[in-house]
Amino acid sequence: MSIKLFESYQMKNVTFKNRIVMSPMCMYSCEQEDGMVNDWHDTHYTSRAVGQVGLIMIEATAVAPEGRISPQDLGIWSDEHITGLKNLTSRIKKHGTATGIQLAHAGRKAVLEGEILAPSALPFDDNMKTPKEMTKAEIEKTIQAFAHAAERAKKANFDVIELHAAHGYLINEFLSPLTNKRTDDYGGTQENRYRFLRETIDAVQQVWDGPLFVRISANEYQNGGLQAEDYIQIGQWMKEQDVDLIDVSSGGVVPVSPNAYPGYQVPFAEKIRHAVKIPTGAVGLITRGIQAEEILQNNRADLVFIGRALLRNPYWAKEAAGELKYALQAPEQYRRGWS
Ligand SMILES: Cc1cc2nc3c(=O)[nH]c(=O)nc-3n(C[C@H](O)[C@H](O)[C@H](O)COP(=O)(O)O)c2cc1C
Repeated sequence: MSIKLFESYQMKNVTFKNRIVMSPMCMYSCEQEDGMVNDWHDTHYTSRAVGQVGLIMIEATAVAPEGRISPQDLGIWSDEHITGLKNLTSRIKKHGTATGIQLAHAGRKAVLEGEILAPSALPFDDNMKTPKEMTKAEIEKTIQAFAHAAERAKKANFDVIELHAAHGYLINEFLSPLTNKRTDDYGGTQENRYRFLRETIDAVQQVWDGPLFVRISANEYQNGGLQAEDYIQIGQWMKEQDVDLIDVSSGGVVPVSPNAYPGYQVPFAEKIRHAVKIPTGAVGLITRGIQAEEILQNNRADLVFIGRALLRNPYWAKEAAGELKYALQAPEQYRRGWS
């Protein structure tokens, strides 16, 4: 049997050496509060590249200072961020690992001093700030911030861009009827709620022709919220716009905890993949090589995103290969300790 987890995967001009993606995970490690890459990011991400991950998706990286989740977030809102990110992609690529960056704006979930922005003036919960409803000018400026960030990501030599449209952050807040109560062109119908993402994708594509992923929350776990069925239509629009992959997560829109069990989000990735005929990524409590292989062999998703298991073990790929009896090639320096 050929092991699909370790088969390469081609997307536009980029080849991933296997189907293992490091899921984007905020490190909140910019102690200087300047959004700059530092030693922590270099060590953390390069270790997973040595560990043979196929694609490393760098954590939610803010396209605007007011779009950070916390003051310690990584940033890409100025040209000064490019050098650190470029050095990081170069380090990762030396190990044959592709690089992606998740472009993000926290919207109403920003925990920052000063004004925060969202489609509607509704706080996430009683402990969070009430955001300011965005004006059309602020919408336009924020879409341009995503496009400028994409241009910088290109200059930093990233292979993939992922737009963070999940977990109740800004783009998701536009998509969801629970958080978007606007009465203009950006609210109301599903098509109107999609407008912000549509225009963001269009603006990014003006400057970016590499693989483009979008991460979504395919279930909001609340009555009146979006579900996987809604993402069949939304996914079709993304496909028409030449999005390359939908990375299917869930939750975070309203303060409700899902019942999370192994593979709990995989059925959403599977449903969207088959209905829309678009590549999907599966994520969420995928911790074993055997589980990842099942998802791929049964055509439930095209790539498998691994989060916390890769925090515990930078050599997760090696552990998964062992379970699947696949002879994963060692980094040359580690050959004597690999088998
Ligand atoms: C420390 C930490 C930080 C995270 N930061 C992000 C993020 O920046 N962007 C994102 O889309 N998801 C983020 N997530 C969610 C993960 O990418 C992943 O979807 C989630 O942990 C479920 O996968 P897992 O069970 O393999 O960990 C984060 C998760 C953790 C544990």
